[in-house]
Amino acid sequence: MNVLLVGGGGREAALAWALARSPRLTSLSAAPGNAGIGRLARRIPIAADDVPALAAHAIAERYDLVVIGPEAPLCGGLADRLRDAGLDVFGPSAAAARIEGSKAFAKELMARHGIPTAGFHIFDDADEARRYLAGAAYPLVVKADGLAAGKGVVIAQDPATAIAAAAEMLSGHAFGEAGRRVVVEEMLSGREASCFVLADGTTTLELAACQDYKRAGDGDRGPNTGGMGTYSPSVWIDERTASEVRERISIPTIRGLAEEGAPFHGVLFIGLMLTASGPKVLEFNARFGDPETQVLVPRLDGDWLELLAAAARGELRGMRARFSERAAVCVVMAAGGYPGGYAKGSPIEGLDEAASLADVAVFHAGTEIDDMGRVVTAGGRVLGVTALGDTIAGARDRAYEAVARIRWDLELHRTDIAADAISETAPLRPPRG
Ligand code: AMP
Ligand code: GLY
Repeated sequence: MNVLLVGGGGREAALAWALARSPRLTSLSAAPGNAGIGRLARRIPIAADDVPALAAHAIAERYDLVVIGPEAPLCGGLADRLRDAGLDVFGPSAAAARIEGSKAFAKELMARHGIPTAGFHIFDDADEARRYLAGAAYPLVVKADGLAAGKGVVIAQDPATAIAAAAEMLSGHAFGEAGRRVVVEEMLSGREASCFVLADGTTTLELAACQDYKRAGDGDRGPNTGGMGTYSPSVWIDERTASEVRERISIPTIRGLAEEGAPFHGVLFIGLMLTASGPKVLEFNARFGDPETQVLVPRLDGDWLELLAAAARGELRGMRARFSERAAVCVVMAAGGYPGGYAKGSPIEGLDEAASLADVAVFHAGTEIDDMGRVVTAGGRVLGVTALGDTIAGARDRAYEAVARIRWDLELHRTDIAADAISETAPLRPPRG
């Protein structure tokens, strides 16, 4: 198969690594890719959110499969355009991707189908929001409806904070159109976890669960980021929780979208809160997680290309995804200053040395090749260093051993990824496949 992969971050580097190992692959192209992806794929210089140019390129090349990594082109309708032209696409239509692109859509879908989530109210009028918030019980969560790069969520302890956040969002100053509606939610408490299911429109196929470390600093301190590290399997999702997620969340969500005329082809990312009264949905994403993909991908005992193509073609029925008993840990190495301002262009040393360790994969995220042919930093999250091990502790030690071999000016990483998992549960509970 000739495959086009859309995107150029760490998630896509892990997907490129997975696709490149498939015996079914004839050629791999990536738009735009990054320095690491460029070792495995032909790079096409089109930005991941340039839907018209991506569509024109993919249709002209008649790829056998297009795998869309990030949310922006999904919400922008890239999958629709390609499917209309007869191509097989891993990634939902714009209508189905609203499950990520509009929090109000996702909440109303969950309400219609009885899917467990925090109680909520939706507002598009600042006066109505103010009236409600003035008399509500606190704490509460105020969210911008649309894509806000993980920044459109305010946890408010009092009416003044909530009213200010809602007014700022509804004014359009904070997030533009993404904030023109707000969702006000009940605050949930518990532990967060990330679950993933492939869907081919009707059939779902469960993947392994992961834990993501979202804060910039050790001990979960500092600002929110896209994710500073992950491990899989999650030690917090036991068989009973997994079956609740399957029966009460994954299957009804995919069925609900299909019934409402928006069948979902791709991967549904379920951001969960594990509460005292069971798992509840915090958010859905219409794509793989980053850096969750960097720990999911190496744990599959099987062919990712076969699974992604089956999801694209409506052929998941009867298929299985078997995950290895081994654990994976990914440590993100970021540019100093991330998630705020950071420098680009620093040469990265030690990449080959790190990648030569057994059971280690160094997935590039924000990297480029400079004029002198060196691999340099080109983004906030620069690398995702993943290691496999027989236990989470073993994978973690190996990942940090690899991290220690890589250097650049002002490099930054957390030192406590997966540390809580090994203090609370050793040895690793057997993962479910
Ligand atoms: P979201 O983009 O909706 O996932 O929100 C980002 C983060 O805000 C989540 O990962 C949670 O840490 C937190 N959050 C969102 N909604 C809630 C909620 N209803 N209760 C508690 N925390 C929440
Ligand atoms: N790591 C969280 C995300 O991909 O949205």
